Amino acid sequence: MKLGYYSPSRRGGAIFVSLKKLSTVLAILMFLLATSPTFAKASITKTVYGKTGDGKEVNEYTLTNSNGAEVKIITYGGIITSLRVPDRNGNLDNIVLGFNKLVDYETKNPYFGALIGRYGNRIANAKFALDGKDYTLAANNGSNSLHGGNKGFDKVVWEAKEVSGDANVGLELSYLSSDGEEGYPGNLTVKVVYTLTADNAIKIDYTAATDKATVVNLTHHSYFNLGGNGSGPIYNEVLQVNADKYTPVDATLIPTGELADVTGTPFDFRNPKTIGSGIRSGDEQVVLGRGYDHNFVLNRADKTALEKAAYLYDPATGRGMEVWTTEPGLQFYTGNFLDGTLVGSSGGMYRQGEGLCLETQHFPDSPNHSAFPSTELKPGDTYQSTTIYKFVVD
Ligand code: BGC
Repeated sequence: MKLGYYSPSRRGGAIFVSLKKLSTVLAILMFLLATSPTFAKASITKTVYGKTGDGKEVNEYTLTNSNGAEVKIITYGGIITSLRVPDRNGNLDNIVLGFNKLVDYETKNPYFGALIGRYGNRIANAKFALDGKDYTLAANNGSNSLHGGNKGFDKVVWEAKEVSGDANVGLELSYLSSDGEEGYPGNLTVKVVYTLTADNAIKIDYTAATDKATVVNLTHHSYFNLGGNGSGPIYNEVLQVNADKYTPVDATLIPTGELADVTGTPFDFRNPKTIGSGIRSGDEQVVLGRGYDHNFVLNRADKTALEKAAYLYDPATGRGMEVWTTEPGLQFYTGNFLDGTLVGSSGGMYRQGEGLCLETQHFPDSPNHSAFPSTELKPGDTYQSTTIYKFVVD
């Protein structure tokens, strides 16, 4: 065949060749799309985590987003056992404290990663009154009731349902807390949805409904260490909290009822400062808490909107965490009761200050302080609360 001679078959061959090329290019593209973290889809997988002492199966769900950020949640206590987010160089590391075994979560967990309910933080003398009726709770923290009592929401097995979209991936956890459980009135149906978003945020949506007037204050209790689980104390991390006031406490960590101005105290985090700068200040309140263990009264433009409450930053790794919430309060706890007796998922033991909690909430002991925002939930009303922990690099 002469060069340049027009031939239909030759033309067909050319089309065939370019189709072949096209399919190769497409195959390469598909491969790149599937393997590139930018285009990989969010996913959720489930494995058996273990069995509780009383024989209930516990599953672990792994949620991964398109950037490779990953959170592991178990159905026992709705506990986040691991949360891997990138540092400024793109290295993923687990930034929450935890254990490797279910039995440790069952027997010695200081609420690592857990869902807290029915009532986050303390209720004085384990007692409150509602509609003229007195209720007695379990006194599991000296004479006070802490984090829901002996068997709070951190120690129950939740029903789980996967929720997935293209960019976000989620896990819906449900639990029915029956009337009288841990002394609280009303059958309370609780739903908590954890969503891992495409922009590296963990969104937590809480809803609850009751058939009798009750009190509810739900929160999440991860101990964060932006330098990495087991990397040492969090004192060099920088915190900013959007609060002009906080609630001082008595010797048993019950709020006195006062809303104190943070100006001139170690509680002034309105401008970012290292956590270490005030933790040994000798301030009476810091001494009572053995560090920070206080509720901040968040400045809010709108009572119910999702607003930025705090920003935590680790200069060593460049990891930052924004905290957004619809709640009026934020409990800042610097892991003061970690005393080196727990060996955790890092493989080493945890000493004081190796993790910190930023628990979005209504104020502690609100049922006994009528001036605090109310935690009462009435039949027919829906408890609704949202918190976002968003991870960034700076
Ligand atoms: C409380 C601490 C308590 C800790 C339990 C925090 O929310 O404020 O006082 O010791 O939870 O791990």
